[in-house]
Amino acid sequence: MKAPGLNIKELAQQVAERLEELALVSDEPGWLVRTFLSPASARANALVGGWMREAGLTVREDDFGNLTGTRQGPPGARKLVIGSHLDTVVDAGKFDGPAGVLLGIAAAAACPDLPFTLEVVGFSDEEGVRFQSTYLGSRAYVGKISPEELALRDAAGISVGELTAARRAAGFPEAGADLENLMGYLEIHIEQGPVLEEAGLALGVVPGIAGQTRILAGFTGQAGHAGTTPMPLRRDALAAAARLVLEAESQAQLHPPLLATVGKMEVLPGAGNVIPGQVVFTLDVRSPDNTAREAALEHLEQFGAAEAAARRLAWHWQVKQSNPAVPCDAGLSARLTEAVAAGQPVVPRIFSGAGHDAAVLAGVGPAAMLFVRCRAGLSHHPDEYASPEDLAAALEAVVRFVLSLAASPYV
Ligand code: GLV
Ligand code: MN
Ligand code: MN
Repeated sequence: MKAPGLNIKELAQQVAERLEELALVSDEPGWLVRTFLSPASARANALVGGWMREAGLTVREDDFGNLTGTRQGPPGARKLVIGSHLDTVVDAGKFDGPAGVLLGIAAAAACPDLPFTLEVVGFSDEEGVRFQSTYLGSRAYVGKISPEELALRDAAGISVGELTAARRAAGFPEAGADLENLMGYLEIHIEQGPVLEEAGLALGVVPGIAGQTRILAGFTGQAGHAGTTPMPLRRDALAAAARLVLEAESQAQLHPPLLATVGKMEVLPGAGNVIPGQVVFTLDVRSPDNTAREAALEHLEQFGAAEAAARRLAWHWQVKQSNPAVPCDAGLSARLTEAVAAGQPVVPRIFSGAGHDAAVLAGVGPAAMLFVRCRAGLSHHPDEYASPEDLAAALEAVVRFVLSLAASPYV
């Protein structure tokens, strides 16, 4: 099925140009970083909100910073949600998240007459940079924010609850979508890996999303003089943290496809001639297998405790966020696969090791994900790139998918 009279190529070219423009909206000069409810996120929402309006969508920004563009169907109509996130990592690429939102807007522009409600969403916090807590935006959208999440504090000591209450006081409506008639959720995202490029194919369909746990951990010992404190008498927090980092790496090497990453570490007081008295670091553990992920976490928590005991340190271990592995909906994914198959000879199924808002939406209805080839499989890096041709292939498949749901709704 082909969308009549639509110039998919032009819309995809517009998406490519808009991605460049959006990438200039950053909280810091010189690189791209947009975190949950930051000034740049507000500017990004204003820009993307304008593009949503141009596509004929009614725009709403909620207290959690989620941006929705809705085209209401007839009374009682079912709802298709297309979304991804507008926040980024630090020194981010231009495509991770925004590509899915802008392609969703393009799909809305390409499909003006639908018998159902179409909602395009830019979620506000998938990366979790500010609060170490991924999916705050989509969890608020589906009404599942917990008291623990509201109590999370950022580096400046401000809590999620305080921030969102201030936004409600400033007039932003409370997050929470009407999902009673949800037909499904589609997320379009760059693959962030090399499989499609290796296969020479533009698109793939995602059967499921890996579980992930984010930990904030640390050791506290005793700072002291690097020249006068004999080695056996030291309580060096960084030496313990170094062993924990290597143990995390070896756990992951021993139990593939488990992945473990320490991505951020703070060493205090942080001087070349002072024994490190305190170390705080993040730990990110992922697997498609929930049991394997939980076993690795238990092992690493015990390893840290043993290391702390041997070195007379205090050991801190705080679970900031834990999300189990999530399958995508088989039926909706089959519909998406048919739409992709009309444009390429085979449709790879690629399990996602990265987190996506689809993992949250899958908890409230059928969710499907489309992966788009990205150059060298690179992501979370400024060189992240997907070609306008591949964006056009994605848009073409999404338009086919949307029109197929219009012709015969998914039940
Ligand atoms: C998000 O991109 C994540 O998987 O960390
Ligand atoms: Mn990401
Ligand atoms: Mn992403």
